[in-house]
Amino acid sequence: MTTSEIRIPDAVAANLVDPTAYADHRIHETYDWLRANNPFGMAEIPGVDPFWVVTKHADILEISRQNSLFLNGDRSPTLVSQEADARIRQMMGGSPHLLRTLIHMDAPDHPKYRALTQAWFMPQNLRGLEDRIRKIARAAVDKMAATGGECDFVREVALHYPLHVVMEILGVPEEDEPRMLMLTQELFGAADPELGRKPSEQTLDKDTGGQQLDLGVITDFFQYFAKISADRRANPRDDLASVIANSKIDGQPISELEAMSYYIIVATAGHDTTSSSTGGALWALAENPGELAKLKADPSLIPGLVDESIRWTTPVKTFMRTVAEDTEMAGRKLSKGDWMMLCYASGNRDDEVFDAPKSFRVDRSPNKHLAFGYGAHLCLGQHLAKMEMRILWEELIPRLESVELAGEPALSQAVFVNGPKTLPIRFKMA
Ligand code: HEM
Repeated sequence: MTTSEIRIPDAVAANLVDPTAYADHRIHETYDWLRANNPFGMAEIPGVDPFWVVTKHADILEISRQNSLFLNGDRSPTLVSQEADARIRQMMGGSPHLLRTLIHMDAPDHPKYRALTQAWFMPQNLRGLEDRIRKIARAAVDKMAATGGECDFVREVALHYPLHVVMEILGVPEEDEPRMLMLTQELFGAADPELGRKPSEQTLDKDTGGQQLDLGVITDFFQYFAKISADRRANPRDDLASVIANSKIDGQPISELEAMSYYIIVATAGHDTTSSSTGGALWALAENPGELAKLKADPSLIPGLVDESIRWTTPVKTFMRTVAEDTEMAGRKLSKGDWMMLCYASGNRDDEVFDAPKSFRVDRSPNKHLAFGYGAHLCLGQHLAKMEMRILWEELIPRLESVELAGEPALSQAVFVNGPKTLPIRFKMA
């Protein structure tokens, strides 16, 4: 295999770092091309360190499984430009990370920090939250019904329902939810002209890595959670913030940076992703009325709807890994320090794993999607995400007689986490 065969053509590689390609479906054409022609190729894009692009389901799983060979912490676990990387290292005393969340860590630290909240996110504990979540779901469905048959489903339901659930679990007061929503959208949607901060207010400029990091947004999160943290140390309550604030690592209280990072990952990863798959599910049902009919005839298919909509939307598009030592994989020689992009949305459309991957089927079985990743970093919130979506659909589907698009839906422009930002629908409800 020659270097020129390994290198991904520039026009194809450019889409991988172009946030607009994730909003107008070009990214799926790019993934189709890569899986067929160069499923483990090298992207060399000006302004970004070269990185391997992994697009086959089997390779993504294998890399995610081998956590000591493919690391999260050595370089940025999300795509950044060389310029942003240099500025972060300068600010953070050489570290490539602005935050120190679970996704920035490897063993031996990672399992210790994950264990702090793992029990909270297990199904046994979540079962105790089911009634509270169902109340929130019912209120969301009632709010939708009150619109009288036409609404933007993203703005009316998909954004606020998961936000309310995770903020209640975390212990953020309801009046602060709009602020949390705005900060999350500014963080993940930094490249989207409608969601990111105005260029004049951004603290790390738009960069050619496609994924922007806005330091001002992170500072705002820090200031907000510093108050919550101090309060929960003084007055612990029955919420996740109290668990984080009072946790110990190797017998010592958790450090400020790591506590703040923990709040931020739960507060952001905990709703934007679920909002995207909730919005994506209704979009797909509006375009596939036969699938809605199946669900109405057999509500036991609702967990299938949940999994299929998570596969279909794959809200987390990519994570990066760094090679820990020279090795070989998929016929490629990988060197220590190489950076690699795991393209989950591509793995979830791989026809070696999924029958008719481009069809939305609520009765797809098996559905071995990798939208939650795999291995040691497998999504901590996956049971919560699936449970809250299941409950929403259990409340909505029996009442929903029909739904159709009432305008042009739009996806957010982002390389890391994206999904519908507007979804105009017309519906009939019992
Ligand atoms: C990690 C996706 C919902 C919290 C991840 C990862 C993915 C992901 C792809 C990285 C996995 C890896 O590197 O192997 C999703 C999707 C969701 C969702 C698609 C919804 C449909 C949630 C929720 C929460 C959450 C509701 C919390 C309330 C986390 C945390 C991590 C994580 C804390 C880091 C885990 C670690 O590194 O050990 N998620 N997520 N996620 N997710 Fe989620």
